[in-house]
Amino acid sequence: MPDNGTLKKRKERTNLDFYHSPTQLRFDTWHRLEEHSSRLREKHMRKADINSLSKRIREELSTIEVIENYSAFPSTEDIGLLWELFDQQDFAVLARVVARIVRALTNGTYRSREINLRVSSELDERDELSPEAEAQLHQRPYFELLFVDESGDDDVRRMRDNLRSLRRPEDNFIYDIVVVPSFEDALIAVLFNYNIQAVVIRYGFPLHSVNHLEILQRYLSKIDESEYEDALDIERGPLLGNVISDLRPELDLYLVTDAAVEDIAGNVTQKFSRIFYQQEDYLDLHLNVLRGIQARYETPFFTALRKYSRQPTGVFHAMPISRGKSVTKSHWIKEMVQFYGINIFLAETSATSGGLDSLLQPHGPIKKAQELAARAFGARRTYFVTNGTSTANKIVVQALVKPGDIILIDRDCHKSHHYGMVLAGAHVCYLDSYPLNDFSMYGAVPLREIKHKLLEYKKAGILHKVKMLLLTNCTFDGVVYNVERVMEECLAIKPDLMFLWDEAWFAFASFTPTYRRRTAMATAARLRLRFASAEYRAEYEAYCKRISKVKQEDLVTERLLPDPDLVRVRAYATQSTHKSLTSLRQGSMIHVYDQDFSLKVQEPFDEAFMTHTSTSPNYQILASLDMGRRQVELEGFEMVQKQIELAMTIRERVASHPLLSRYFRFLSAHEMIPEEFRPSGIANYFDPQKGWRNTRMEEAWETDDFVIDLTRLTLYLGLTGIDGDTFKNKYLMDKYGIQINKTSRNTVLFMTNIGTTRSSVAFLLEVLVKIATELDQEREEASRVERRLIDKRVKSLSQELPPLPDFSHFHAAFSMGASNKVKTGEGDIRRAFFLAYDEENCEYMTIDEETIGKAMKSGRELVSASFVTPYPPGFPVLVPGQVISEQILAFIRALDVKEIHGYEPQIGLQLFTEEVLQNLQQQ
Ligand SMILES: Cc1ncc(COP(=O)(O)O)c(C=O)c1O
Repeated sequence: MPDNGTLKKRKERTNLDFYHSPTQLRFDTWHRLEEHSSRLREKHMRKADINSLSKRIREELSTIEVIENYSAFPSTEDIGLLWELFDQQDFAVLARVVARIVRALTNGTYRSREINLRVSSELDERDELSPEAEAQLHQRPYFELLFVDESGDDDVRRMRDNLRSLRRPEDNFIYDIVVVPSFEDALIAVLFNYNIQAVVIRYGFPLHSVNHLEILQRYLSKIDESEYEDALDIERGPLLGNVISDLRPELDLYLVTDAAVEDIAGNVTQKFSRIFYQQEDYLDLHLNVLRGIQARYETPFFTALRKYSRQPTGVFHAMPISRGKSVTKSHWIKEMVQFYGINIFLAETSATSGGLDSLLQPHGPIKKAQELAARAFGARRTYFVTNGTSTANKIVVQALVKPGDIILIDRDCHKSHHYGMVLAGAHVCYLDSYPLNDFSMYGAVPLREIKHKLLEYKKAGILHKVKMLLLTNCTFDGVVYNVERVMEECLAIKPDLMFLWDEAWFAFASFTPTYRRRTAMATAARLRLRFASAEYRAEYEAYCKRISKVKQEDLVTERLLPDPDLVRVRAYATQSTHKSLTSLRQGSMIHVYDQDFSLKVQEPFDEAFMTHTSTSPNYQILASLDMGRRQVELEGFEMVQKQIELAMTIRERVASHPLLSRYFRFLSAHEMIPEEFRPSGIANYFDPQKGWRNTRMEEAWETDDFVIDLTRLTLYLGLTGIDGDTFKNKYLMDKYGIQINKTSRNTVLFMTNIGTTRSSVAFLLEVLVKIATELDQEREEASRVERRLIDKRVKSLSQELPPLPDFSHFHAAFSMGASNKVKTGEGDIRRAFFLAYDEENCEYMTIDEETIGKAMKSGRELVSASFVTPYPPGFPVLVPGQVISEQILAFIRALDVKEIHGYEPQIGLQLFTEEVLQNLQQQ
């Protein structure tokens, strides 16, 4: 029998408020049921124990009964069987049946065969199929088809039997059905059951669910009851279709109606793949459903590459590695084949023949694969990039701006942007992000700052030169913008402004509804619809009356709306598919939602693509992007959802663990986002006392200027006395083999991804416990002197942090806006960058008081000739042409990091000579 402490802990764990998702509740409840029912089998149990266990089993069965309404396995009949056994007190059989269910759910056998629980296990597991048929069955992916229908149990059984009878050996997929009776149940099902891939909405279903399990009801906040009540009967199906497609746009929707199809088809065909009139013909439905899945399953380029690799081709082009010949013939590098397998070589070619396509001018499978990716990510167009987002960023910038055009860009953007600006000759106006001095990291750029800059350009009369706003969403540390608000208000000032959202870390965001709202593509699509609507026009007219009374200088604090007659939605997103989804390294995508693309961008875009793309792009990367796209369209929702759940679990466990919480905490919304940017007032998404209930995370994502991507976990180390770099290398890596790649002075960043498992989470927690135990011991055994040293380290890491510097300004020789009637801040970074190529234009100064300090005090403006980038924080604190301020100097001096690109302590900072600066100003 577990001791009291363990029981107490378990009891806490069963408190539903501490479950973030029903998936984990389902999993844990089944396991508890298995444990309790098998304990009841034991002989010689005390009556009191039997009673208490029975009570718990009853509760668990009641929970499971509700949860399992939304999955095909175990079925309603299966749950009925469990109750039957429980009522008969046949605990031995109950335990066996529960164990079989748990096994089937855990290893997924229910996906490939029917599990008949009424037949004894041994019999069921006997192989009734030939080994070949069995193997084929296992290969066929399984999914579930949801019916929204108020039919009774008999009808459901008939429906299931009918559809099962239609299964054919040649079908590529196998499926089972789930039937739910109401609007609310349908929403719960699509959000909770990851196996659902298609939905058949039949007529005449009520709004409310009869099930009441709070954790499931949390899904329902989005229902607008009055909309349902006001809708006619025939409109309710389409209404449900709209809500489902908003939540999971990848699902195929079918509508069955008894109204005249012709009357409603026009309004709903966009969301529904097919409408059936009083559907009776199951074969038609069956074939349509399979075809819908096939359309997502297609991988045109991967398939073409695989086909090519099987062809017996004579190689008379370059590339000796293709077909593996140079390797298999070799005496010395044979292990390459052993390690990689032969297929990778069979799939290598430099030819674009044999059914393959050219990335530089795609007409065949690459084009098709890109179109499918556009569909998956909600873009109008998608381009594959085989050199990472570093290159994707340069392509977009070159395509959209000419030398001399102005770009507004976040100060702490990725370095590829700075180089992109140099190459494109853009004039750069840096925007300061709010600093998080306590953690030595930046947040993101407040909208007020962006509007302020745009309004300044307007006043200076050069707004027409501002072409693009470029922001990082989300930031490395997980700060996410309110993309809609930013685009909307900026378009109010400049209606044709183009946006490049660097979503290097955010490719996964399209596959979960809350996150999707804050992606560039989903926002662009939403805004376009909104601006074209009659409601918006009315809203705009009312706004015009109000705003005409506001003074120009107050506009920055007003909520602005764009003119529907002028506005153009022009958004681009670059994503490192390889960072958050399945793709080989360097696989990235550019997504486009630009109303003016064909007219204004297509040609320069093609040129920019040519400029930066190799004529030998890596086919394996392209094929992996194609596969990664298939994956997200079929299981992206599931994977991202599970990733978020695991990240939540890590947060919750660290916050609730007495030892861990003494040394560690994950930074929460209120620590990473100042209050003024959180109008929802929500400070934490998890509360150690209240759990997840009422933490209103969805509301924060709906309204706040910034939110935190919960899949990224910033662990605060201030109280450990260990700095980020040492924690990363000495503790996590050397001792426990845990890899991470971002630290600040007093934090380390853990990133979860779609491959994160429950056991890797358990391992991480175990490691943190070990480290915390070590720290406890160290403190316990410390001498007085050692104790003082520890306290000093803790103080230094938690209180003595150098304030992060703002961008100072460009020197007059490079500052293009200095002579405007209203001074604007953009600079010609390209001019400064190339000027430094001539050594005689530069000198070097070490950062000590004697050298640089003296020069500064003499009143000389010191101007950087290079990028200076400390790691961490990993962005340039100086760019070519930038004036060195006291603040920046103080920051560099205070840095205790070992890696600073562009700066050698012995040689010092590279500066422009006074002479060259004077000459430039006189020109
Ligand atoms: C914000 C941001 N953009 C772009 C990149 C470059 O992406 P890639 O590694 O795919 O070239 C990175 C890389 O870390 C990044 O953090």
